[in-house]
Amino acid sequence: MCLAPSFVIAITGLLLAIQGSSHPVGNDIRTSFTNGQLQKPFSDAPYAVFSTIRDVLLEHSIIGDVLDDFEPSYYLDISYPKSHETVLLGNDIPVESVSKRPIFTFHSIASLLGTEAAKKSTFTLVLTDPDAKSRDNPKWSEMCHWILTNLTTPIPEPPSMLHLEKAKPGELKEYLPPGPPPKTGAHRYVFVLLEGTTSNLEPPADRKHWGYGKPRHGVRDWAQDNDLTVVGANFFYAQNEKQ
Ligand SMILES: *[C@@H]1O[C@H](CO)[C@@H](O)[C@H](O)[C@H]1NC(C)=O
Repeated sequence: MCLAPSFVIAITGLLLAIQGSSHPVGNDIRTSFTNGQLQKPFSDAPYAVFSTIRDVLLEHSIIGDVLDDFEPSYYLDISYPKSHETVLLGNDIPVESVSKRPIFTFHSIASLLGTEAAKKSTFTLVLTDPDAKSRDNPKWSEMCHWILTNLTTPIPEPPSMLHLEKAKPGELKEYLPPGPPPKTGAHRYVFVLLEGTTSNLEPPADRKHWGYGKPRHGVRDWAQDNDLTVVGANFFYAQNEKQ
């Protein structure tokens, strides 16, 4: 079986994510990953990676607070090149490292595995903060930080190079750098990949509550209203230096 290099990167990233997070992650996941998958041959790993992304999203209540339960079908690789930071399913990133737009790639897990041919589709990538003003008091949540649309997947022909999607052309809501207020603890900053028709998308009326006027409303409502399906997610933690 031939694995694309990006898929190997995805696995590596996930391992780093689980081992590097200082936020609570269930011991069972950590154990099963280090004791199980690391030793296993790569040919067994993809299915474990697949379910582990969902497990991490559940552990950190991304599934729950932000998204309905879903099976991730795309792996979302996001990094801030100037500051050499990569988003790794719940790692801590300093606020000053995320001041400029990140770069990203996303790949269908099934097509990387060769179990399904890559299909042409259009996507939207968003960044949302469910912990505004704080995780304990999410009265401004969710805060919309970014919406990029009209994205397409590269058709992978393994071994293929990573494709970088440049943000600007389809920016429906400009990138607002994360700026968690002092003494509000760590905020989860959640990237969500949505699949579906993007030609007539309208931006939300407001960043706060994504224009829905009530706490705990955001990308879930917006995706539903626009017939977009959640297919992938990734996230990091950031907090103000003053705590
Ligand atoms: C997305 O593409 C459509 C054409 O298919 C275009 O009308 C629209 O303005 C684009 N959206 C953005 C945010 O650039």
